[in-house]
Parts: sequence; C-alpha cells; structure tokens
Amino acid sequence: MDKIVMKGGAELHGEVVVSGAKNAALPILASALLADGTSTFRNVPDLADVATMLKVLRTMGCGAERLTARKKDVCEVGVNGHITPEAPYDLVKTMRASVLVLGPLVARFGRARVSMPGGCAIGARPIDQHLKGLKALGADIHLTEGYVEARAKQLKGGTVNFDVITVTGTENVLMAAVLAKGRTIMENCAREPEIEELARVLNKMGARIEGAGTSVITVEGVEGLKPVEHAILPDRIEAGTLLVAAAISGGNVLVKHAVPEHLDAVMDKLREAGCTLTAEAGGIRCKAPRTLTSVNITTTEHPGFPTDMQAQLMALMCVSQGTSVISENIFENRFMHVPELHRLGADITIQGHTAVVKGVKHLSGAPVMATDLRASASLILAGLRAEGRTDVSRVYHLDRGYERLERKLRALGADIRRVKAKA
Ligand code: EPZ
Repeated sequence: MDKIVMKGGAELHGEVVVSGAKNAALPILASALLADGTSTFRNVPDLADVATMLKVLRTMGCGAERLTARKKDVCEVGVNGHITPEAPYDLVKTMRASVLVLGPLVARFGRARVSMPGGCAIGARPIDQHLKGLKALGADIHLTEGYVEARAKQLKGGTVNFDVITVTGTENVLMAAVLAKGRTIMENCAREPEIEELARVLNKMGARIEGAGTSVITVEGVEGLKPVEHAILPDRIEAGTLLVAAAISGGNVLVKHAVPEHLDAVMDKLREAGCTLTAEAGGIRCKAPRTLTSVNITTTEHPGFPTDMQAQLMALMCVSQGTSVISENIFENRFMHVPELHRLGADITIQGHTAVVKGVKHLSGAPVMATDLRASASLILAGLRAEGRTDVSRVYHLDRGYERLERKLRALGADIRRVKAKA
C-alpha cells in the first residue's frame, strides 16, 4: 500500500494540466451500452474508479479497455448483442457509481440486475430517486438479495419529478429515457456540468435531449443509438484542488484546461479569501495573497459551492486569518478529514453539519490518514503548508479521483513523493 510523504513550505509556481473529469467519464463509459458497436473516448483520466467501470462493462461481456499501447488517455467500449446485464456486488461495493449501468441496461436490453451500492464513508447515499425515475418510465423494479432487478419490454416516456436533486440519479434516468417510447420530462434535475456533458455525448449518439444543465430536461425517445467518439471535458474538482494548492502554498499557478464557467462558486470564494484569479491561456491562474482571509462556505447543488471542494477549502481556511463557518448540506458525514487536520494543528469545531474553523499561524507536519477521496486531497493541501514532514497514508482513496496528483504538485515545486508503506 502506498503513502505520500511530503515536506511543507515550498511556494508552488508554474503551469499544470488538468485531466479529464472522473464524474463525467463514469456515466459516459456506461452510456456506451446504449448502442451496438465500438465507442471511443479520449481524455479519460487514469483512475481506479475508471478502471472499475471498465471492469464492470467487461464483466457483462463488453470489450472495455484503455489503449495503453497507443494513447494512454483513450478508452474503447465495444458492445455486441450478447450482454449479461448484471453488475455484481463485488464490483459495485468498491465503486457505487457502478449503479450508472442500471438505466442503460434496462432501456437497451429490457432487464438489469445491479447490486445495491450500500452505504459510503460520507453518507447513506440511497438510490431511491434512481428507482423512482425508472418506475416512472414503466420499469418493473424488485429488490432481492441485495440486488435491484429491473425489467421492461419497452420503457415509455413519462414525467419524472425528483424529490431530491441527485447527480447520478439524473444521469441514470436520462440514459433510460433516450430509448423510451415518447417524450419524457424530468423535473428538479441536477445541473452539474457533467450532466450537460453526458447529454452532449448522448445527442452525438442520436438522442434527442433538451435542457441539460437546467432543472428541467426534456427527452424525445428514439428507436436506436449509434456508437460515438468523444473527448471528456476537464475535471473541475481537480482544477479547483490545484487552485487551492497555489493559494495555500503562497504561490502563483496556471491551471491549464480548467473551465472558468464550471468553477464560478469556487473562484468567488478564493477571491474573497484574497487570491487573484484570472482566466488566461485556456485555463485559470491563481496568485496567492500575502495573507489569506477566512470566508464562510455553504455547500449546495451546482451552480452553488460544490461539496466535492468543501474539504479542500477547509484546509485553506485552517491557515487563513479569522474564523470561517463551513456548512455541509449535501452529505451527512463529510467531515472525516477534521480529526486528521487537528493532528496537523488545525483549530476546528464541529456542530452537526457545520464546522467552525479558526485560522492558525502555523500547521506542523504529522502522519495522517485519508478517509475518503476529497478528504485525502485536503490532507495533502494542508501538508503543503505544514512545517516539517507529513505522511498521508491510505492514498488509495486519492487514486480513485486524482491522476498522479503528487507528480503534478512536484512539477510545481512541492517536496512530495509516493512511497511503498511498510505493511
Ligand atoms: C455525485 O454523487 C458525485 N459522484 C459525487 O462526487 C458528488 O459529491 C455528488 O454527486 C454531489 O455533487 C459522481 O458523479 C460519480 P447525489 P451522487 O445523488 O450522484 C441524496 C466525488 O468526490 N440522494 O447527487 O451519488 C444523497 O444521499 C464524489 O467525486 C437520495 O436521497 O450524489 C445526497 O445526500 C463523491 N436519494 C444527495 O441526495 C437518491 O436516490 C445528493 O446526492 C440519490 C441521492
């Protein structure tokens, strides 16, 4: 098992390129199930979660692989008629986003058997809204032995009104509605850029979707779809994490391929904290101030402040002047990084889903443990600022969503490396 070893204090300077978006690549790889033939996806990040989705697709009988020989960021998914529409517990338990095959399978093959994802470190994360949506399109849904069994000779267009705004719920139902007979109207949808990107790919495959990126999406079902070739959009959460790395280190970094429109809420908060953010040369530059100022953060659905950036901003607030109140409104258990930040000398008090962060002058390095994907990023960011050595263990959490983050930070001047941890 690997760990990250780092020494804080170096200012980060230079340019860094953002990888493709994990949370767009996962539903888009699953969408390949909707058409016979081979779909080709470029700019696919080399992440553990992507490898799991490719494995889920192979388990069903698809050809699904990363073309390591030629271009490392290219994945091909080949679908023929002989698919076993099943996603087993062993894989779904390692990555709950595997549930994204449910919509495409029942729409395309008339049935699906997909393991229920179960709980997660950051919250209960039920999929009731996914199932509600598929039922509204006429799917017959049963839960047996920990599996969702979904059946439908032909899905029919209908109205889906989500009780809760859900990203993967919107994506799953969208991928089902494209092959449903007639029109589907989806209301109270999530508006994340990854959903717009999925709709862009589905429309390239021949779907008829309007309104993606807004809370109401309209879909005219079509008979069939064709395979597609597409380059995945840049990862706004990785970009946000790298902007915070520049800020917390007192540096000046250009994050290439970052899309400003996808990061408005994050850039607003970094500006409020005193950073200078400029859109330039196909990216975003972040120049840190001499002294960071504490700001308050409230996580909401897009276009509000993303929950996936909460932990990273908390790390920044640990060394900012003043007091910051951070409210986490999306997941009920997303402060697991707090006890680890305490170990680095942070002053944070938790009251329910709110954390009060009093900025301190210094953090000091220590061994810490990652508990989930974004928590691991916040510990590495804090380690960039902490005096002395910080060891971050359980970095398998980091590898689920960041493509060789330590190499990117080292190229910007950080004293950071990955080592094999003694068992
Ligand atoms: C997506 O998860 C992202 N994952 C998450 O990113 C992200 O944190 C989350 O959206 C919110 O932005 C992927 O896209 C693969 P939700 P998802 O359904 O779709 C409740 C990361 O770090 N809910 O929008 O699973 C749920 O419990 C990951 O990259 C229901 O109650 O999140 C939560 O409180 C972590 N019933 C809220 O809605 C449902 O059927 C939002 O969850 C579905 C969700």
